[in-house]
Amino acid sequence: METFNEEKPNDKAFIVLKPKGPVSITGNFEVTLEDGTKLEKREKVSLCRCGMSQKLPFCDGSHKALAQ
Ligand code: FES
Repeated sequence: METFNEEKPNDKAFIVLKPKGPVSITGNFEVTLEDGTKLEKREKVSLCRCGMSQKLPFCDGSHKALAQ
């Protein structure tokens, strides 16, 4: 499986659905919020998909409480 290499960036983005956790994205991408705001370009982000995060749309680890 090909993975993102910070030392050899390319034009691809890799999206991983973490089990009972966030959507992890690495690579070359942009994030656009619901209101159309584009976030600062970044190479790695974890987006919440459980709805429990206090920092939506980002994962803050709150999903771990659901697994217990
Ligand atoms: S997926 Fe981590 S807080 Fe929602």
